[in-house]
Amino acid sequence: MNQGKFISFEGGEGSGKTTQCSMLETYLRERGIDVVLTREPGGTQAADEIRALLVSGPTDRWDPCAEVLLHFAARREHYVRKIKPALEHGKWVICDRFVDSTIAYQGWGHRLGTELIEQINGTVLEGFSPNLTFVLDVIVDEGLKRASNRDCVNDLQPQDRYERMQISFHERVRQGFLHIAENDPKRCRVVNASQSTQRIHLIIVALVDQIFSL
Ligand code: TMP
Repeated sequence: MNQGKFISFEGGEGSGKTTQCSMLETYLRERGIDVVLTREPGGTQAADEIRALLVSGPTDRWDPCAEVLLHFAARREHYVRKIKPALEHGKWVICDRFVDSTIAYQGWGHRLGTELIEQINGTVLEGFSPNLTFVLDVIVDEGLKRASNRDCVNDLQPQDRYERMQISFHERVRQGFLHIAENDPKRCRVVNASQSTQRIHLIIVALVDQIFSL
């Protein structure tokens, strides 16, 4: 059976991932590709319930290891019930965050290290990994400003739990993403997210066309 493709978008707060995910979804649909757009933490009802536990409350609400387990509980549900079946039906899945976010936020941000996360990942996802990952890279200050403006405009809760973490946490997250990309250049493409939305979109679709021979 024709196996679909899995493309993840990664990056710090305010890096513009969500906008780029939906622009890529439109682009692929216009080319006749059946696309599922989804996000983490979340993507299924149960995983969205776990998301609510992770993104609200005091910054020290969870022990970092417990936090990893919650992300992977949500991810397992998402993977088994939504991602895997979609790919088996030949659909393309665009995912706003995936495992790299756990490595960057919990592994680097919370300084838990990557070994435990990689071990859990191997078991929970049965060796599954994205075909392509875009890392949208933006200076921490700029990203956090964008994220807080977005929250005001959309009347969201003032700053979710991760946005409220210290600048040094977000700096480590950024380094984490860049390190992941540097170590896996076949899968990951870093895109400078300080550019205009349209320019970033053009870079992304050019890479998608080239990598998947569209
Ligand atoms: P979002 O703002 O991109 O929707 O993501 C919600 C938050 O969850 C974001 O601040 C990053 C955080 N997160 C982690 O800390 N670890 C993870 O594994 C994932 C998927 C997200």
